[in-house]
Amino acid sequence: MNTLSDAAATAVEPATSSCPVSRRAAARVLRTWNIADLRAMAKKRLPRAVFDFFDGAAEDELTLAANRAAFERVRIAPKMLTGVARIDTSTTILGAHSKLPIAVGPTGGIGFGWPFADVGVARAAAAAGIPYTLSTMATASIERIAREAGGRLWFQAYIFRERKMTTDLVERAREFGYEALMVTVDVPVGGKRERDFRNDFAIRFQFTPRNILDFATRPLWVLDILRHGMPLLENVAGLAPEAKSTAEIASSVGQFWDADFDWDGLKAMRERWPGKMLVKGVLRADDAARLAAIGVDAVVVSNHGGRQLDGAVAGLDALPPIVDAVKGRMSVLVDGGVRRGVDAIKAVALGAEAVMLGRATLYGACAGGEAGAARALDILRDELVRAMQLSGVRSISEIGPDLLAR
Ligand SMILES: Cc1cc2nc3c(=O)[nH]c(=O)nc-3n(C[C@H](O)[C@H](O)[C@H](O)COP(=O)(O)O)c2cc1C
Repeated sequence: MNTLSDAAATAVEPATSSCPVSRRAAARVLRTWNIADLRAMAKKRLPRAVFDFFDGAAEDELTLAANRAAFERVRIAPKMLTGVARIDTSTTILGAHSKLPIAVGPTGGIGFGWPFADVGVARAAAAAGIPYTLSTMATASIERIAREAGGRLWFQAYIFRERKMTTDLVERAREFGYEALMVTVDVPVGGKRERDFRNDFAIRFQFTPRNILDFATRPLWVLDILRHGMPLLENVAGLAPEAKSTAEIASSVGQFWDADFDWDGLKAMRERWPGKMLVKGVLRADDAARLAAIGVDAVVVSNHGGRQLDGAVAGLDALPPIVDAVKGRMSVLVDGGVRRGVDAIKAVALGAEAVMLGRATLYGACAGGEAGAARALDILRDELVRAMQLSGVRSISEIGPDLLAR
């Protein structure tokens, strides 16, 4: 039985949400066999400026490459003759059940890739039984996602200089039942993303001869924009009242971050938020230990997919010392470069509770909305099951450091 396409076929019912998927697009994503296929499909459909905004990273993109290289370096020493006909991929993430050791991380602005891609990704995560994180900079509001997606919802907060904006957003997330608050701490200022500069994406959006050609070669994408309108950063729509488009808000939003946010600010947020709190963007053991000491429930070991400090250590390489430093006092998640199901085994073997996805589900959503995001998750689930069988482990709890080749 081909578990991959059977499971995906059930996941592509037309969405009764604001993230539309035609039957043809849903059928097309079933012809993809890995995350790289979905990326290639997204690249074909999107204007270059939009694709590069998602795909690109800071400066020389060294950290982007390091994330993937770190996963590629780790090798498994598989166990034989363990009886692997039945595999259980379920686990506990942040104290609650998850069908996979995978959570979906926050990605802003993704409605540029597919109308209301956020809703599609959130619904796909709910269907897969894993947590989903809504970005402050999402193209769907806190309320819309709560209404249209369901499942385990986390809200990711950026810290605005106008602190009340952050507290208002956090209050809305609490009111609408979000289970956890994720505070991203690696963006005191924006990273230097040169692909965006070159494509005129990060400056006041304007049509140049190069842009027009770029957009003219992607008629399906243009049709979607004409049909559904320019995406809006719904959570922060009032942020730059003079801005006429989301691209303008996106390009100017960096000036709103609070580069002075520090440990005192974080402690105050911890005291105010009654639920679980994750801190994302941690790469040092001493920072992680300090977070455990102030009652933070989880760290996400992350370099923001290489989009912030180019030259920062890969997430997977930073993981073991952090796991050591917090010694069971808090959950540890890791992201950056997760593209295969086997990556989850490697991260769990190195001490993570789960991996978090960024571009993997984003490429899926850009290839085929909700059906594409569901396909990405289905591919990763199928690869994980097969890799567990081939590694000789029947459950996530059987994955430990002894599974790795020295
Ligand atoms: C297009 C894009 C937008 C992102 N937006 C956010 C965001 O709003 N907040 C945040 O904390 N991280 C954001 N991230 C970082 C991701 O949450 C995650 O850390 C990163 O993508 C992981 O690397 P990977 O995509 O290689 O797996 C974004 C990443 C991408 C690619």
